[in-house]
Amino acid sequence: MTESTNAPIALITGASRGIGRLLAKKLGERGVTVVVTYKGNAELAEESLADVKAAGGDGITAQVDIESPESIDALFDLVRDTYGRLDYFVANAAASAFKPVAELKLHHLDRSYATNARSFVLGAQRAAALMDRGGRIVVVTSYGSLRAFPTYAALGAAKAMNEAYMKFMATEFGPRQITVNAVNGGLIDTDSLDYFYNRVPGMAPMQSVLSKLPLQRPGTADDMADAVDFLLSDKASYITGQVLSVDGGLTVIAPPYWSDTTAPLHDAVFPPDATVAE
Ligand SMILES: NC(=O)c1ccc[n+]([C@@H]2O[C@H](COP(=O)([O-])OP(=O)(O)OC[C@H]3O[C@@H](n4cnc5c(N)ncnc54)[C@H](OP(=O)(O)O)[C@@H]3O)[C@@H](O)[C@H]2O)c1
Repeated sequence: MTESTNAPIALITGASRGIGRLLAKKLGERGVTVVVTYKGNAELAEESLADVKAAGGDGITAQVDIESPESIDALFDLVRDTYGRLDYFVANAAASAFKPVAELKLHHLDRSYATNARSFVLGAQRAAALMDRGGRIVVVTSYGSLRAFPTYAALGAAKAMNEAYMKFMATEFGPRQITVNAVNGGLIDTDSLDYFYNRVPGMAPMQSVLSKLPLQRPGTADDMADAVDFLLSDKASYITGQVLSVDGGLTVIAPPYWSDTTAPLHDAVFPPDATVAE
């Protein structure tokens, strides 16, 4: 029996924590009905759904392992059977091994592709089929799609694939008034950033990167969720096939870095009395 609601229906993968969770709440503030998905943290997903409802929205929680095509199918069957349609699909969940290219084993390659790239295509196929009055698809990517840095090859390559697929989808789903875009994050302060800088053995200190950034600080999950929320809003109805970077300027800088200069150049960019993140 499908639930009858005129509110937009959104499905967000990985909405129990981080960026997905904040996005769910923002959509709740707009009265959206959100399918809050998680892999293992059922309790956190319930808390996230409670945030959505407290903000004015509605929804359900749903378990999915995006590495598994059967699990993705079961998730979309649930959405179809519960709501009969879908308006927004946000492919946000990701997981990867962080290793140099020479150390990537077959299972790392296969699992990264299945979890981070294949899941987006399978999900978007099912999502688009449920978007009977137009819709929005957003995939969350990262600057590893554009730039190379230690241990990020498997995930960065998958994110690059997502951005390529995004453009093909924008072309093919456009006539049905479905927009498809990517939000590409830089250093965003979440559990996964903490893992990357504090638990990958030998990783460079986060401060060594932050001091190079034009905005001199990591982004927040809120910064990312705002960008996705914008692309899902009426204000973005004519934007499709685009990558929106939310990275504090990370992808426009190159060596030599302003933060490594000395007087008199250094003072031209950094006010003498300002505290620079080093
Ligand atoms: N944090 C950053 O610095 C950063 C930068 C750029 C881009 N991004 C991108 O932003 C997105 C969200 O990242 P985040 O840092 O907000 O994530 P996060 O806090 O690490 O949370 C990950 C979410 O994905 C879910 N998840 C993990 N593996 C899954 C699987 N196999 N199947 C289904 N769900 C799964 C988790 O569910 P459970 O809670 O149940 O485990 C959780 O809800 C990712 O695409 C990431 O690549 C992050």
